[in-house]
Amino acid sequence: QTIRLEDYRPSDHLIDRVDLDLRLSPHDTRVTATLAIRPNPAGEAGAPLVLDGDELILLGLECDGQALPADAFAATPSGLTLHRPPRRPFTLRIETQIDPTANTKLMGLYRSNGVYCTQCEADGFRRITYFLDRPDVLSVYTTRIEAGRDEAPVLLGNGNPGACGVIADTDRHYAVWHDPHPKPAYLFALVGGRLDRVATRFTTMEGRDVAVAVYVEPGKGPRADYALDAVVRSMGWDETACGRPYDLDVFNVVAVSDFNMGAMENKGLNIFNDKYVLADPETATDTDYANIEAVIAHEYFHNWSGNRVTCRDWFQLCLKEGLTVFRDQEFSSDMRSRAVHRIGEVRTLRARQFSEDAGPLAHPVRPRAYAEINNFYTATVYEKGAEIVRMIRTLLGPAAFRAGMDRYFAENDGRAATVEDFLAAFAAESGRDLSAFAGWYERPGTPRVTAAGIYDADARRYTLSLRQSLPSGDGAPLVIPVALGLVGASGPIEAACPRVPDGVFVLEATSDTLTFEGVAEPPVPSLFRGFSAPVRVEMNLGDAERLTLLRHDTDPFNRWQAAQSVAMRLILDRAGARLVEADEAGPAAEAYAAALGAFLDAEALADPAFAALVLALPSEGEAANEIGRDVDPDAVHRARQTLRRHLGRSLRGRLESLREALAQAAGAPFSPDAASAGRRALINTALDLIAMADPEAGTRAAEAQLSAASNMTDRLAALAILAQIPGKARETALAAFGERYADEPLVLDKWFALQATIPEAGTLDRIARLRSHPAFAMTNPNRVRALIGSFGLGNPTQFARADGAGFALLAETVEALDRVNPQIAAKLLTTFGSWRMLEPARSSKAGEILSRMQARPSLSRDVADILARTLAGS
Ligand code: ARG
Ligand code: ZN
Repeated sequence: QTIRLEDYRPSDHLIDRVDLDLRLSPHDTRVTATLAIRPNPAGEAGAPLVLDGDELILLGLECDGQALPADAFAATPSGLTLHRPPRRPFTLRIETQIDPTANTKLMGLYRSNGVYCTQCEADGFRRITYFLDRPDVLSVYTTRIEAGRDEAPVLLGNGNPGACGVIADTDRHYAVWHDPHPKPAYLFALVGGRLDRVATRFTTMEGRDVAVAVYVEPGKGPRADYALDAVVRSMGWDETACGRPYDLDVFNVVAVSDFNMGAMENKGLNIFNDKYVLADPETATDTDYANIEAVIAHEYFHNWSGNRVTCRDWFQLCLKEGLTVFRDQEFSSDMRSRAVHRIGEVRTLRARQFSEDAGPLAHPVRPRAYAEINNFYTATVYEKGAEIVRMIRTLLGPAAFRAGMDRYFAENDGRAATVEDFLAAFAAESGRDLSAFAGWYERPGTPRVTAAGIYDADARRYTLSLRQSLPSGDGAPLVIPVALGLVGASGPIEAACPRVPDGVFVLEATSDTLTFEGVAEPPVPSLFRGFSAPVRVEMNLGDAERLTLLRHDTDPFNRWQAAQSVAMRLILDRAGARLVEADEAGPAAEAYAAALGAFLDAEALADPAFAALVLALPSEGEAANEIGRDVDPDAVHRARQTLRRHLGRSLRGRLESLREALAQAAGAPFSPDAASAGRRALINTALDLIAMADPEAGTRAAEAQLSAASNMTDRLAALAILAQIPGKARETALAAFGERYADEPLVLDKWFALQATIPEAGTLDRIARLRSHPAFAMTNPNRVRALIGSFGLGNPTQFARADGAGFALLAETVEALDRVNPQIAAKLLTTFGSWRMLEPARSSKAGEILSRMQARPSLSRDVADILARTLAGS
C-alpha cells in the first residue's frame, strides 16, 4: 500500500525509555524489550497501541508486570496490537525470538562472516522487536548484550559503555551500553564478534575526551589506519567549519563484509561496508581512499545532521541525507582540491541523478508518496538534495548560511524535523522569503536553462537572456542561482551589471534579461560557474568560444565544462551520423585536440588531477542522456572511441613525456594524498589514450606498469587498459590478477567488475562463467554489485544488446536475488531506468522482459515497486 506525505499524523503513543536485553545465538537469539510507553498528548486518546513487527516470533508479553489475557492483544509476525492499552504511562515487556543466521535480507540483526551486526534504517528495528518503528518516536536506550565469549569477545552498542562481565558457570559474557541521547529506532545498533581494534583519542572543543576506535576482521588492523585518521579529521572539521562537537565518550566504527549500502550512522556506533574502511596501497586505489574519507565523514557528520536533529517521517529523508552529503562534500573539498572535487561531484550527479530524473523513476527530492521507502535512498534524495543545500549557501552567502545552519541545529536539537523547519531557519537569519525556492524539493525533473547573448559593439553593451523550463511544464518557476561572468579573447572581462552582485544572478522568473555595460570586446559568457544549480544549460556557443573559456575562464569548473561540451558535441555529431569508418576525425576534432595540447603544455604538470579530468571524455551514459531518445548505444560507443583514438594520436608525444615527467615526480613511498593521486590519475589517463592510439604499444606499456606497480591504483589502471584490448595478453593478465588476489575480497570485486564492463559480445559468456566462480555469492552485496551491477551501469553496449540477452541476464539475476535480498535486487533492477530512451528494437526487448518479470508471482514489495514504476505508462 502507498504511504502519503499528506497523511502524516503524530503517533498515538510515545516510548520514552527502551531497555533491551539481547541474548545472541546464531539461530536462536532472544530479545527482551522493556518499553516505557505513554499516550502522546498530540495523538488520539484511547487509540489502540499498534506496534510494527517483521518476521518476529512472540514468546512473551506483559503489561505492568501482568500477563495479558488473550483477547487483549493480537500478535502476528508483522505486528502486535494492544486493543485497549492503559490511558496512562505503562510498561510493556516483550520477548521475541529471531534467527540472525537466516537473515539474508541484511536488515535487522544478522550475522556477516560470523559477526553479529544490525541495520535498522529505514525499518529494520521491527525485525528485532515489536516497536513504534517510525522516526518521530524518540527514546533513551539501554542495551544489554550477551553472547558466547569465544564467538563474540567484542560486544558493542550505542552510547557509552556500562557494566560488563562474565556469566558465572557459563562460557558467556555480557556488556551494557547506555545512550543518553533520545533517538529513533532506526539509529539503534549492536555488534558482537571477534574483531581487532585500532584506536586513538580525540578531545572535543568542549574538553570531552573521546575514545575513538575502528573495529575490523582479525588481522586487518593495519588497513584501518586511514579510516581512523579520517574519523579524527572529520571530528575536527565539524568543530572548526560548523561548530559541531561530538557528544559521547566513545565513537566506534565497525567494518563488516556483507552490507546492503555504504554505511550507517547509528548513534556512537557507525557500521560500515568494509569497502569503505579497509585500505592499504596493495589493495586500495586512490578512489577507494577518497571514498573512505568521504563515507567516514558522511556517517560522522550525521551525528548532528540526522541524529541530534532527525526526520519527522521518511518523506523528509533529504533533510538528513542531502544535508549530510553537502557536508561531506565540503569536508572532502577542504581536504583535497576543491575544484577537482566539485568536478567529481557533478560527474556523479549527471551520471546518476540526471538519468534518474529523466526516466520513469524520477521523483521529487522530497517524495510525496512511496510503497517501499528503501527504494528512495536515491541519487535524487542524496545528490540533488545536496545541491539544494549548496544553492541556499550561494543565495545567502557564507555568513548567513552558517548562521542559518546554527539556528537550525539549535532550534531542532533533540527533535524530529521537516524540510519546512530547515528552510525557516535560513529565512529567519537572512530575512529572505524562501517559499518560492522550496519548489526545488517538490518538482521532479532536471530544469533546462536556455541562454542567448547579443553583443552591441557600438554601445559596448552585452545583453544576455535566460529562460528556464521544467519537464513537468506547469507550476511556478524555480529560484535558480546563476553564478556567471564574462570572458574575452585574452582573459576575464570586467563589466558592470548591478543585477549580478558578487557574481551571482538569481533567475526567479521564467525568463529574464541582463544587460552588461562597458564591454569592450565580444564576450563569451561563463554560466553556472561552479555548477551553481543542478540544471542543464543550453547555449549556442561555437567550439572556438568554448575553447576560449577553457583557456581563460577564472572558474576551474567551467574551464573543465567547456572542454566537456566540445567533446560532447563531437561525440553526438558522430553518433547521430552513425558513421562506421572509425578514423575520420575532421577539423573540429583537430581544433579540440590542439586546444587540449596547448592546455597540457601550459598546465598539466602544475595540476595533474585537473588535467586528467580535462582529458577525460564525457561517459557513454552521459552522451545517451544528452541524446535523450532513440539511443543506439553502439553508435555512441563507436563515436566516443573514435574521439578517444583521435586524442591519443594527436597528443601521443605529449602524453608520453608527461608520463615520464610525472613518474619521476611520483616518487617511491606510496602516499594516498590528493597531489600524489592526481599524478597517478594523469599518468593513467595518458596511458589509456596512448593505448587507444596504438594498442600494441599500449599493451606493452600496460604490462610493464602492471608488473612494476607499487600500488593498486597503477596496477588496476594497467589491467583496465589491457582488459579493453582483445587478445592473449588480456587473458593472461586477468588470470594472474585473479589468482594473486584470490583471498582479497575487495580486490576480487574490482576484478569481477572489470570483466563485466568489457564492451564486447563475449562478455555475456564471461559473466556466465564468473557467476559460477567459487567466489561469487548472491549473499554478498558487494560481489553482486561488482559483477551484475557494474554490467548494468557500466557496459551500455552489452547490457542493451539488440538481442535482449543483456537485459535477460540482469532480469534473471534480479529474480534469483529477490528471494535472498530484496533490497539489493530492487537496486539492481533500477539499471533498467533508462530503457525508454533506447531505440525501438532495444526498448521493446527491455519492455518485454520487464513485463514478463511483473507477471511472476511472489515478487518482493521492493522489486514490485521498482518494476511498477519502471513500467508505468507503457
Ligand atoms: N543512512 C545511511 C547513509 O546514508 C544509509 C542507509 C540506507 N538505508 C537503506 N535502507 N537503503 O549514510
Ligand atoms: Zn547518509
